[in-house]
Amino acid sequence: MPDVPATEHTLEQTEVTTDATRRTFVALGIGALGACYAGLIGYPVYQYLATPARKAAAQGAVTQAVLDGADKLPPGSSLMFKFGTTPAMLIHHTDGSWVALGAVCTHLACTVSYEPEQSRIYCACHGGVYDPKTGQNVAGPPPKPLTRYSVEVQDGRIVVTKA
Ligand code: FES
Repeated sequence: MPDVPATEHTLEQTEVTTDATRRTFVALGIGALGACYAGLIGYPVYQYLATPARKAAAQGAVTQAVLDGADKLPPGSSLMFKFGTTPAMLIHHTDGSWVALGAVCTHLACTVSYEPEQSRIYCACHGGVYDPKTGQNVAGPPPKPLTRYSVEVQDGRIVVTKA
């Protein structure tokens, strides 16, 4: 084997090392871009999938809603409010009684409304009807009654709690 001058051998090794470093750099760059791309796609998908579970957990943690000034609600009228993240309604009946019910239809989750002149809670989506005193489903497709809450009239406010 012929003797290779020390300088040529060193130059060859330097080129090999530079090539390996360049390949490593490109591979790392591609890996980093791939990770960013996966994050950009994956995070919204994760948020989309996790939201119902997070909403359910948040809703489950809420046990009370305080409605300041709601005690002035005239008899025969209602007030929509949020119980946690869910629409709900407070009804002040003409006999003086108070009723708080969930305002989410048990059929396909449309928001229901109180119709005092017809003494009913009505869901306009498919004609569901509920009793405004009990929340019981009385006509149409709703399979279950509305969620019923306890109502307490305190000084200048109404406190609604999970029954
Ligand atoms: S969503 Fe209310 S009756 Fe269908």
